[in-house]
Amino acid sequence: MTGPLVNAVGVRKSFHSHEVLKGVDLSVDTGQVLCLIGPSGSGKSTMLRCINHLETISGGYLTVDGQHVGYERRGTVLREIPAREAARRRAEIGMVFQQFNLFPHLTVVENIVEAPIRVRKQKTAPARARAAELLDQVGLAHKADAYPRQLSGGQQQRVAIARALAMDPKLMLFDEPTSALDPELVGDVLAVMADLARSGMTMLVVTHEMEFARAVADEIVFMAEGRIVERGRPDDVLSRPTHERTRSFLARVSTAGRERSSPRPDIPPPAAGHRMVE
Ligand SMILES: Nc1ncnc2c1ncn2[C@@H]1O[C@H](COP(=O)(O)OP(=O)(O)O)[C@@H](O)[C@H]1O
Ligand SMILES: [Mg+2]
Repeated sequence: MTGPLVNAVGVRKSFHSHEVLKGVDLSVDTGQVLCLIGPSGSGKSTMLRCINHLETISGGYLTVDGQHVGYERRGTVLREIPAREAARRRAEIGMVFQQFNLFPHLTVVENIVEAPIRVRKQKTAPARARAAELLDQVGLAHKADAYPRQLSGGQQQRVAIARALAMDPKLMLFDEPTSALDPELVGDVLAVMADLARSGMTMLVVTHEMEFARAVADEIVFMAEGRIVERGRPDDVLSRPTHERTRSFLARVSTAGRERSSPRPDIPPPAAGHRMVE
């Protein structure tokens, strides 16, 4: 394949009259790890959902591995692809959300083999053998037969990562995978993601974990109000941001990080979906 694995050019997305993505250019090369940062409401999740065929785009151009996301070319015309085909393409992209979304009535190993068996028609024995390898990779070999409710949030999120990897994705998308976790559980999940990055997986990670981004990302992309404001090597973007908008965002995030790291057991954690920084 030539060209970037993800290639977004001038991508626009509107919900009714509200334009959320205002012409996003974003490319991710095979093997690259990008961290996408930016204020709440800037369009980060929407961008991931467009890449993953969960949303169609309203304008511009977006391909993953050379295929138009949500569309197919018939001669000179782009037509929306049927839901079935979109689901097939989506299965080639792993996605990990803030909420782990494991099936509560299935054990850990059953959660992991579900899609390979149902979607990929794999046989049970090889699917389970692969699940065992993946559980070992995320440090949870001993939890294969547990139910999600018996696991901590961090363990559930590591199962969710193993479940995504079981489909052998060519790309992994992470949308604030540690934002719903208690602080002491964040590190194990980030360690699994760092290992995955080192293994050569192509990753696009929306995160507020700036130290992770600095250590693991090849590049950081800062997004605000539906546009990419700047992109560059972690040290450049985090330590020497070019744009005032980036500087003020980073100042607020680092303040929130310091507040969060001082234990305040009397204050409940923010509701899921809310960020303290915004
Ligand atoms: N399905 C939807 N319908 C209407 N508005 C939406 C929908 N999804 C997202 N939005 C709006 O798009 C904007 C960007 O949201 P989002 O992509 O979730 O931002 P971020 O992930 O950066 O916080 C927000 O104003 C949000 O309310
Ligand atoms: Mg979001």
